[in-house]
Amino acid sequence: MEINNRTVRLLERPIGLPKKNTWSLNQENFDLELKENQILIKNEFISLDPAMRGWLNRGKSYISPVNLGDVMRAGTIGKIIESKNKNFNNGNYVSGWGGVQDYIVSDGKDFTRIDDNKVKKETYLGALGVPGMTAYFGILKEGNIKKGETVVVSAAAGAVGSIVGQIAKIKGCKVIGIAGGKDKSDYVKNTLKFDECLDYKKENFFNDLMSICKKGVDVYFDNVGGELLDRMMLFISKGARIVICGAISQYNQKPKGPNNYLSLLVNRATMKGMVVFDYAKDYDKAIIEIRKWILEGKLLTKEDIYHGIENFHDVFLKLFNGEKIGKLILKI
Ligand SMILES: NC(=O)c1ccc[n+]([C@@H]2O[C@H](COP(=O)([O-])OP(=O)(O)OC[C@H]3O[C@@H](n4cnc5c(N)ncnc54)[C@H](OP(=O)(O)O)[C@@H]3O)[C@@H](O)[C@H]2O)c1
Repeated sequence: MEINNRTVRLLERPIGLPKKNTWSLNQENFDLELKENQILIKNEFISLDPAMRGWLNRGKSYISPVNLGDVMRAGTIGKIIESKNKNFNNGNYVSGWGGVQDYIVSDGKDFTRIDDNKVKKETYLGALGVPGMTAYFGILKEGNIKKGETVVVSAAAGAVGSIVGQIAKIKGCKVIGIAGGKDKSDYVKNTLKFDECLDYKKENFFNDLMSICKKGVDVYFDNVGGELLDRMMLFISKGARIVICGAISQYNQKPKGPNNYLSLLVNRATMKGMVVFDYAKDYDKAIIEIRKWILEGKLLTKEDIYHGIENFHDVFLKLFNGEKIGKLILKI
């Protein structure tokens, strides 16, 4: 069988925001005869995640960088075109690390079947994928929330933040979101039903933040880092937990740490980083619970889907310019 594969490969390590020539788009045709145990997957949905920016950097992290010349690493959902593996049939949908390309051949070990006719497949890149797992374990295990506590979450209209806040509401917390722009803030408050959502792009944002947080914050779920993390340290209550999930405001520059860290001492508070992969053995349990909330109408999911592998770069930048709501996905 002749395969016409388009790939996006990493050409150079960017300084600051990635540019068009950070990647190359290639046409790579090849003849394929599957070996025993192999499957051929046609990727349909590609997950675009802030972490991908970190994988472009040289150096040690929780996962190895993408090598120059390699296909850009990405979570995917695809359809099996041909299978010589007894665990997969033609037509099955699978999620895994398929990369930014049309096709991938695998022995199936790193791919999971999606056998679900009630929830959209794309949701398995969002609320039922890595962002959902991050939100679930981040707020329940790392944040250790209790009923009646006050939770603040940044990037609240995004893939992780929107689920964090909704889970905290399900668990009986008071939830304040922070998001960029009026439309996003209205969406978080009116549609996702957070108690409040502040627009950090508004002129008086830090005054608004101070007045809404003055009674104290028990959990700050940080997706953004930088100045916001620094300010949030001033509002924490005694015994508060700051969950360092991400720091998207710092990914394209040399990261700057917080000045107000002595607030941790005064408040006997903790600030701890998390990596979702540490919870991998419990993903199944989280998927069952989140899926139940979705089907009961207690948790809303939103995927923002753009089209065309040739638009990968422009769509990827939406993570940083905020021109999207919910989980960012590229359909190819
Ligand atoms: N630790 C883990 O295991 C783990 C796993 C998954 C994700 N994460 C982290 O979780 C965070 C959220 O990821 P996600 O997939 O849910 O992304 P996302 O929130 O869906 O998208 C990123 C959002 O960040 C906001 N943003 C971008 N630049 C910003 C800046 N300079 N200041 C403030 N906000 C900015 C934008 O929203 P606005 O329009 O509101 O600005 C943008 O929509 C990221 O930091 C990511 O690295 C961590």
